[in-house]
Amino acid sequence: MSRIVHVNGAWLPEAEATISVFDRGFLMADGVYEVTTVIDGRLIDFDGHAARLDRSLGELEMPAPVGRDALLKLHREIVQRNALGEGMIYLQITRGAADRDFTYPETPQPSIVMFTQEKALVDSPAATRGIRVISIPDLRWARRDIKTVQLLYPSMGKMMAVRAGAEDAWMVEDGLVTEGTSNNAHIIKDGRIITRDLSNDILHGITRAAVLRYAREAGMEVEERAFTLEEAKAADEAFVTSASTFVTPVVAIDDARIGGGQPGPHARRLRELYLEQSLRAAI
Ligand code: PDD
Repeated sequence: MSRIVHVNGAWLPEAEATISVFDRGFLMADGVYEVTTVIDGRLIDFDGHAARLDRSLGELEMPAPVGRDALLKLHREIVQRNALGEGMIYLQITRGAADRDFTYPETPQPSIVMFTQEKALVDSPAATRGIRVISIPDLRWARRDIKTVQLLYPSMGKMMAVRAGAEDAWMVEDGLVTEGTSNNAHIIKDGRIITRDLSNDILHGITRAAVLRYAREAGMEVEERAFTLEEAKAADEAFVTSASTFVTPVVAIDDARIGGGQPGPHARRLRELYLEQSLRAAI
């Protein structure tokens, strides 16, 4: 079924939507994005995504083409126009079209693109079975806190994982796990959640923040610090968080089975908690 997408103020069938070949998102990866989940036609963690989008734009000195309220209106409209029940909304803002030059245009005309992807996210086989990850060196740039569209290395990492018979890759720098290719990485040892602290080294996951908040409210202990790959391999449980996977257990890291190769009780509980609370807060 053809989707209705949003491009620079217009609503168009996907086959008719176009962007300039001079768009700096295309030429320079000069753009940022957000992925917001929709369940039962409602937006999960919208304000978190809107706030991070603003931060990403600010870090790149890119003007915001729309404010929070207009953005919410666009999100609601795209859900309604595509009769989206469950899935994701992808939003991308770039510095727009300008003659190719490394320096930014003086008066950029940002491009905004939005589309939907229908997908069953709540009933996910990956969540039931758990996923296997491989470890790879983190070869990305040093501003991973900005959600830019330069996703080639994460894409390569996912391909390495698939070719190795796994589902994803955890990236490692100086012996310490940074994050998954498109998610935040967490482990559990003796009932405590251990997860990398926030810095420019990782994306500040909106799901990560919500899961940690719900976990603390439920009385779980959370330690925000870097952990080694060895520590992860010896953990009782491991899991990833992201807008599209919520909380998904990790049952193997390289050749090490985690929790006997089965999703553990804490990860399962955290997924339930996240779904329950974020659905209650959905708008
Ligand atoms: N990925 N780390 C990285 C590198 C990510 O790309 C993502 C999100 C996350 C989790 O962030 P959040 O909880 O806010 O989704 C962490 C999205 C889903 C994507 O690229 O599809």
